[in-house]
Amino acid sequence: MSKLDSVVKDIAAEMRQRPDRGTVADYIPELAHVDPNAFGLAVADAEGELACGGDADLPFSIQSISKVFTLTLALGMVGDRLWQRVGREPSGTPFNSIVQLERERGIPRNPFINAGAIAVTDVILSGHQPREALGEILRFMQFLADDPSITIDRAVAASEDRTGFRNRALANYMKSFGVLENPVDFTLGVYFHHCAIAMTCRQLALAGRFLAHQGRNPATGLSVVQPERARRINAIMLTCGHYDGSGEFAYRVGLPGKSGVGGGILAIAPGAASIAVWSPGLDASGNSHLGRIALEMLTRRMGWSIF
Ligand code: DON
Repeated sequence: MSKLDSVVKDIAAEMRQRPDRGTVADYIPELAHVDPNAFGLAVADAEGELACGGDADLPFSIQSISKVFTLTLALGMVGDRLWQRVGREPSGTPFNSIVQLERERGIPRNPFINAGAIAVTDVILSGHQPREALGEILRFMQFLADDPSITIDRAVAASEDRTGFRNRALANYMKSFGVLENPVDFTLGVYFHHCAIAMTCRQLALAGRFLAHQGRNPATGLSVVQPERARRINAIMLTCGHYDGSGEFAYRVGLPGKSGVGGGILAIAPGAASIAVWSPGLDASGNSHLGRIALEMLTRRMGWSIF
């Protein structure tokens, strides 16, 4: 067994035992049914090894982690013009906050808070039918993970559609400033569905590889984005990927990371590894409680930090 494999298995075993598991999100009712005792970890390293521990093959709702991939797609479509519609500064506010939108003329602070991700989704939609835009996003995930079995959990999407009053407020508010170009219901429909993509830690670690390897998939050598773009996406993950918990994540883990309220985190060790962890219980900022602790242990034991 390699060092990486034994570290991953050790951490998964230790995380299973911990009593402090955080709180499972229930504002999307369908997410409340997830078992808080689940824990998965998968690491795809530069040598092509894929180390898995715990429930690494159980699918979970990736939620806001999808925003890394929609940002990548939108940059591919419109390049730096994207930054006319969304900023790239940390917000210091919760993921679903509305307060800055009024002061900043409807331009969201960054692509990872809900308002910013809704604006990015609107760019991807750009006049197409919601079904086509969604198909584009899903196919991109399947391509990156090299796995056509990845799907959308329709029950989770419907659950958020029924209860997403806050996101409706954010989208309508942005629409009033002319920041959204498509019908609000179209943009939100695509947004709710891409958040409801279900993936395993194994699939997510594979999908993140291009960010760890200067924009290339190390298995195929194929370029997904230019090296500079991969660096910049990583920079935004570091500064904004955990909302008002981004500073604490950088301090403790030392890597770019993106969390989701499903309890997943994608973390990138540039040049070394793409890491996916999942533990459904969240901390006060809406980020996976044990996921962050597991990443802190992993990076310390493997010597991975960008600092
Ligand atoms: O829009 C929402 O509230 C969810 N679909 C995604 C939020 C989320 O994952 C925040 N992450 N920690």
